Amino acid sequence: MHDAMNVDYDTIIPNNVGLSDDRRVLKALEQWHPGYIDWWMDMGPEGFQEALVYLRTAVSVDPKGWAKFDYVKMPEYRWGVLLAPQEEGRVVPFGEHKGEPAWQEVPGEHRAMLRRLLVIQGDTEPASVEQQRHLGTTAPSLYDLRNLFQVNVEEGRHLWAMVYLLQKYFGRDGREEAAELLQRRSGSDDKPRMLGAFNEATPDWLSFFMFTFFTDRDGKMQLESLAQSGFDPLSRTCRFMLTEEAHHMFVGETGVGRALQRTCDAMNEAGIEDPNDVEAIRALGVIDLPTIQKKLNMHYTLSLDLFGSEVSTNAANSFNAGLKGRFGETKIDDDHQLTNDTYPVLKCINGGFDYVDEPALSALNMRLRDDYSNDCGKGVGRWNKIIAKTGVDFELKLPHQAFHRAIGEFAQIEASPDGKFLDAAEWEAQRDQWLPSSEDGDYIASLMKPESETGKYANWIAEPKIGIDGKPGDFEYVRIHE
Ligand SMILES: [Fe+2]
Ligand SMILES: [Fe+2]
Repeated sequence: MHDAMNVDYDTIIPNNVGLSDDRRVLKALEQWHPGYIDWWMDMGPEGFQEALVYLRTAVSVDPKGWAKFDYVKMPEYRWGVLLAPQEEGRVVPFGEHKGEPAWQEVPGEHRAMLRRLLVIQGDTEPASVEQQRHLGTTAPSLYDLRNLFQVNVEEGRHLWAMVYLLQKYFGRDGREEAAELLQRRSGSDDKPRMLGAFNEATPDWLSFFMFTFFTDRDGKMQLESLAQSGFDPLSRTCRFMLTEEAHHMFVGETGVGRALQRTCDAMNEAGIEDPNDVEAIRALGVIDLPTIQKKLNMHYTLSLDLFGSEVSTNAANSFNAGLKGRFGETKIDDDHQLTNDTYPVLKCINGGFDYVDEPALSALNMRLRDDYSNDCGKGVGRWNKIIAKTGVDFELKLPHQAFHRAIGEFAQIEASPDGKFLDAAEWEAQRDQWLPSSEDGDYIASLMKPESETGKYANWIAEPKIGIDGKPGDFEYVRIHE
């Protein structure tokens, strides 16, 4: 009997799914592996493939000790296939199959829909590695450099997780999809990644932190919904991915928090009270708060678009089919079938915004996006506490849902961050106050000078309060030259 708590290291791929007894899938993964390494060398962290990085590697799914930390060269990282333990007697928690035993094999009638969900999720994982590949050369410290690489190798592992499911449960189609996951490229004209936010550039470290706060949080919401899946291997896969995902959002939240801290401290030291005195603040070599707000506006709205159309038959179908649930599905007190329920959806009505009740099944994207916005709001509240403690008078805000949108109800209109309808000229005239201008981008870029001395931090960002794995801030998190 295979013990799900112990990882099998006797094959090239660490796993707790009994790969050595599953010759067909092992062979498929071993054939995919060289292409993956080629992709990692081409599209992974530029300039640091030989560096020794103090990384955590998932070695088990035991909540009390699933990771070990050590110096690793990234191309030698042990990317593995780890699923949370199978729950005895688990049933499909929602949809038309509610209460039936959870599926251990793909339900034939829902095969195409399930494959599509896996591919879309899988595509985001390598995309973010590609988007972040140039950042290593401008890291504000070795600590941050290490965190970037930790996120990168784990996104690589998440790709492995989806590829495993495709290869194990989808035969030849699955192998083809797995190959294509290595062929698309973030930002490419002819073979782009599947979702918009994953084709945008991540030009600087503030963008990276915003991305891991906002876009990895979209990932969290998607994984939470897929963790509810009646297809048990997907549920178990996503539950374990969420363990790692928490660190990605930690990197984003503390990264932005440390930039805020540093800016406010520098303003106080210089006796600058007005947060909008951008010129004076920039002269201190820190990022002014209005520019941080613009970056927030940008990354939040790109991430909102990832939830798709507010009203969607696809979302209804994958819920009905028992494949993708709601955030916290099992904790919601209703019939988990939603056939007679409604959900309020914000729409453009007569030159204003109003809520319209839609069938709850069709409005599942809207609901997940609302859950997401709430979660984001809490994080923004924690950032505002950092600012408030310094005495600086400034509050970050999430912009209105209709602001700067490219997908869904608000794609065709323009709105200000506080939710006023705008015509094209008004939008153009004010855009640069709300979203990073090329000048803002140039200024931030001018701050992005690498700090690679152990224990030193770039001027624009504060030191972290705690290190990684109980290590201090002046630990050598990356040995750039062996
Ligand atoms: Fe991921
Ligand atoms: Fe992530």
